[in-house]
Amino acid sequence: MPLSLTDRSTGQRAFVTGAASGLGLAFCRHLARDGWTIGMADVAVDRLDEAATEIRDLGGIPRTVHLDVTDADAFSKSAADFVEATGGIDLVINNAGLGAGGPFDETTAEQWRSVIGVNLLGVVNGCQAFIPHLKNGGGGHLMNVASIAAVAAAPRMSIYNVTKAGVRALSETLYAELSDDGIHVSVVMPSFFRTNIDRDLVGPESARSMTQALMDKSNLSADEVARHALDAVASEDIHVIYPSWMSRVIWYWKRLFPGHYVRGLVKREREAKAFAEKSS
Ligand code: NAI
Repeated sequence: MPLSLTDRSTGQRAFVTGAASGLGLAFCRHLARDGWTIGMADVAVDRLDEAATEIRDLGGIPRTVHLDVTDADAFSKSAADFVEATGGIDLVINNAGLGAGGPFDETTAEQWRSVIGVNLLGVVNGCQAFIPHLKNGGGGHLMNVASIAAVAAAPRMSIYNVTKAGVRALSETLYAELSDDGIHVSVVMPSFFRTNIDRDLVGPESARSMTQALMDKSNLSADEVARHALDAVASEDIHVIYPSWMSRVIWYWKRLFPGHYVRGLVKREREAKAFAEKSS
């Protein structure tokens, strides 16, 4: 039987951003059941306290961190505080993210800045904050949450697509750069699954209801995505993680049948346009 992440880890110490909701909380739940110490970071303080209580009840040791991932200095300080308190770090999960939607010509400079700030620079900040500590500890795992949007380029998701493509590119770059330091870098590429991502979505109301409709249609849960990603990381030979059949289909469809794929995107744009007109 392959070793689990808990078997492989020396100290069972993880730091998870966006830990108060959705996928971040699902990661924390799985780790808690194996008794991990978890730095649970989020901007949403109230939800974070509630989540930490659940993690403690499940057997984990939560350390809540009120952190806005866009603040590089605060991220570095949170990383240093966590490592000082726990003696090291074994797994970092840069998960915090915002949904964003709407036609490109209706997006604003402010929307681009804010979503790039969280989804892309938030991950950059997390990597910069923790890589020195991972190196000092002789290695560990660095997992960044992107999305199949990184390669799917679906219409009416330009800001989101660009940020997730950046997360994927950064992760693949770091995979090679850090391999001789014993740091295993991976990137998670989920398709839609059920969470609260529509709650703070950046964009028009039609984008929120479209996202809600796609999530309602998905039979994938945050719990399944987290379980799949943690198991894949434990195997250490996978660095791009497709946690569902849907994300694998999209990836292979685009690679094997590019012409058919882009025609599918055009069809999707027409459907999205009709959906937006109906809901306005
Ligand atoms: P969610 O909205 O349920 O959870 C996101 C968490 O991130 C929230 O607790 C929120 O407070 C936190 N957050 C937002 N901005 C933050 C900031 N500046 N600093 C710290 N924390 C912040 O959404 P979900 O779905 O769990 O999202 C987690 C990750 O999964 C995101 O990176 C998202 O892009 C990605 N993803 C989600 C998919 C889905 O269908 N739900 C599909 C593919 C990827």
